[in-house]
Amino acid sequence: MYGSSESVLGDLAAGQGLRERLFLATKIWTRGRNEGIAQMEESLRRLRAPRIELMQVHNLVDWKQHLPLLREWKAQGRIRYLGISHYAAAAYGEVEAVLRTEPLDFLQINYSLLEQESALRLLPLAADRGVAVIVNRPFAEGALFGHVKDRVLPAEAAALGCASWAQVFLRWILAHPAVTCAIPASGKQTHLEDNMAAGLGPLPGLAEQKALARMAGF
Ligand SMILES: NC(=O)c1ccc[n+]([C@@H]2O[C@H](COP(=O)([O-])OP(=O)(O)OC[C@H]3O[C@@H](n4cnc5c(N)ncnc54)[C@H](OP(=O)(O)O)[C@@H]3O)[C@@H](O)[C@H]2O)c1
Repeated sequence: MYGSSESVLGDLAAGQGLRERLFLATKIWTRGRNEGIAQMEESLRRLRAPRIELMQVHNLVDWKQHLPLLREWKAQGRIRYLGISHYAAAAYGEVEAVLRTEPLDFLQINYSLLEQESALRLLPLAADRGVAVIVNRPFAEGALFGHVKDRVLPAEAAALGCASWAQVFLRWILAHPAVTCAIPASGKQTHLEDNMAAGLGPLPGLAEQKALARMAGF
C-alpha cells in the first residue's frame, strides 16, 4: 500500500542499528484471515523485524476478521499493540461503534484545523477508553498551507513554541489531551526537521490551542 516504505525503513533501521529506538507501526489492508496473515508476515519480513510495536486495520477493512487475528498476534508477542485507522468523516459512525465495543490500543484518525470533526465524539471517547490516538492528515494533505499563504507568521508564535506555520498546525493538534502523536508526511528533509521540532518543549494546553487557531485565521 505504501510502496517501498517498509523495505526502505527496514533496510535503514538494520543498516544503522536503529531498531531499538524505533516504534514501528504498519497496517493490514486486505480481506480474509489467510490473506491478512500473509500480508502481515510480508510486512515483518520487509521491516526486518520479528515483532513490531503496532498493527492497525486500515480503513476498517474486514475488521471483524482481522481484530481477532491481531489479538492472537498480540498474545504471541508478534505485535505489542493493535488498532484501527480511518480518515473520512463519513465513516466516523462505524469507527465510534468499533471504538465503543472492541478492546483497542490505538486509533489513527484525521484531525487538523481544517478537519475538526473527530474532536466532537471520537477523541473524547478514545480518551475515555484509554486508547492512544495517532493523527493522520495533520495538514489536511497540505491544504492548510494554502489557508495561510497570505499571512505572515506573527511574532507571538515564538512564545507558543512555533517557528513555522507547520509547527503552529502540529502544536495545535498536540494540544488536544486525547492526542498521542501526529504523523505528517513529507518528501523533504527540511520539512521533516521542521515538523519534528514541533514536538520539542512543553506541550501546549487548551488555552494555547485557541491562540494557535486564531493565529492561523480559524
Ligand atoms: N491522506 C489520507 O487520507 C491518509 C489516510 C490515512 C493515513 N494517512 C497518513 O497520514 C500521514 C500524513 O499524510 P497526509 O497525506 O495525510 O498529508 P499531511 O501530512 O496532512 O500533508 C502532507 C503535505 O504537507 C506538505 N508538508 C509537510 N511538511 C511540511 C512543512 N514543514 N512545510 C510545508 N509543507 C509541508 C507536504 O509537502 P512536502 O512533501 O513538500 O513536504 C505534503 O504536500 C501519512 O503517514 C499518511 O500515510 C493519510
